[in-house]
Amino acid sequence: MNLISNEAVQPFDFIVFGGTGDLSMRKLLPSLYYRHCEGQLTSDGRIIASARTNTDTAGFIELMEKEARVHIEPEHFNEDHWQSFLQRIHYTPVDVMKPEDYQSLVELLHGREDRVRVFYLSVAPFLFATICKGVDAAGLITPESRVALEKPLGRDQQSAHEINDQLAESFDENQIFRIDHYLGKETVQNLLALRFGNALFEPLWRSERISDVQITIAESLGVGGRGGFYDTTGALRDMVQNHLLQLLVIIAMEPPASVDPDAVRDEKIKVLRALKPLIGQEAIENTVRGQYKGGAYADGTVPGYLDEKDIPADSDTETFVAMRAEIESWRWAGVPFYLRTGKRMESKTTEIVINFKKVPHSIFETTDGFSTPNQLVIRLQPEESIRLRVYVKAWGDDIQLKPVHLNLDFNDVFQKRRMIAYERICVDLIRGNPTLFLRRDEVDTAWAFIDPIREAWDKSNDSVKPYTAGSWGPSAANSLISRDGFKWYED
Ligand code: BG6
Repeated sequence: MNLISNEAVQPFDFIVFGGTGDLSMRKLLPSLYYRHCEGQLTSDGRIIASARTNTDTAGFIELMEKEARVHIEPEHFNEDHWQSFLQRIHYTPVDVMKPEDYQSLVELLHGREDRVRVFYLSVAPFLFATICKGVDAAGLITPESRVALEKPLGRDQQSAHEINDQLAESFDENQIFRIDHYLGKETVQNLLALRFGNALFEPLWRSERISDVQITIAESLGVGGRGGFYDTTGALRDMVQNHLLQLLVIIAMEPPASVDPDAVRDEKIKVLRALKPLIGQEAIENTVRGQYKGGAYADGTVPGYLDEKDIPADSDTETFVAMRAEIESWRWAGVPFYLRTGKRMESKTTEIVINFKKVPHSIFETTDGFSTPNQLVIRLQPEESIRLRVYVKAWGDDIQLKPVHLNLDFNDVFQKRRMIAYERICVDLIRGNPTLFLRRDEVDTAWAFIDPIREAWDKSNDSVKPYTAGSWGPSAANSLISRDGFKWYED
């Protein structure tokens, strides 16, 4: 199966539950619009939004004009394309708790049983089972149907099990698409290309050559209007269980035999299973959790987490996590993987840093004592780039080595609009290509790693460590890495 293809998709009905919500307006509808502009959506492909809001298609389009259109980059907006895109849109109000409400979908979908049907659940996880039962009872599930679920899938291994069991009552496993939108990002797929499309890195990609790996997903935004959700979730469940672990897995996995969905996912899960469990004191010693206080950015001050909307004044929810993980395998034995993520950090930056070991014996003098040997920095956000740090002889009389960077900026190379993650996700859903979605056992194994950490935190008397908004997190995150003799990468 082709991992990255621009061919048109099959005829489809793309049904979005939670159609008036934030994700739908910010990501799904703009993504489908971009794909429409690329000519990738077949002419009778329809997008059916549904939510509790009591309006009709015209009312929904009015809302889209205000809320979705602004998320399309102005330089890529085309009025004619937008108007033809709107022809695809339908809206029907559905209260997913009321079985009789599904009838309007039955009418809309009648006679189109041979089309691909995507049920996209852009709703709170507690509604997943209800909606699956609802569409099942209404007879809407056809062999060409799929259901797409947003993370987090549950709060722990047990609840994920329950949700998965409930989904399995209505859908076959090959119809269930569990989304981690990081896998839809171009650079994440480029990691696979970099590792498995080049012979160069493979011999170096192991503990004999690599000293440590650092993965950072930093955001400058706070919790915004999602306080209610976030306070019961926290960064460990919101970011580490999924996005951070997925990046780790793609960096650490063995080469799959092909890009066949199961070949890739079989290799990914081996890494998750090989993660050294962090239980009890080990969890406490190898993790740091923090919570932002108010602080200042160049464009003004921001409130602390406890002053955000819907956050209890005594909340102990973490908005930052740093962690030292190990993978117990021949390839990675002894290589620490440092992971960190946080809200209200200095800048929005997602990057993976591979630090290579020093030369075994140096015959040269360097300007920095080989303090930072070869280093591969793969940046996903804000821009996509790959930088390789190497030593060269500085021009001049002396033979003295100086570190310089070989830079690859994807913008310069491709000079076109970068697809947003949800474009690939929407297209792969219609195509039914599960490679970039999570299999049940992956989600399960990721929770099995996360649950003991959460338990250790709950039992410990320590509370979250405060950090100032606009910083790189609590100082304990620096100690976590410096005690091994390393430091976090700084640009
Ligand atoms: C989501 C989290 O999954 O990812 C959010 O729920 C987070 O809290 C977001 O802000 C970050 O995604 P991105 O693509 O902006 O890095």
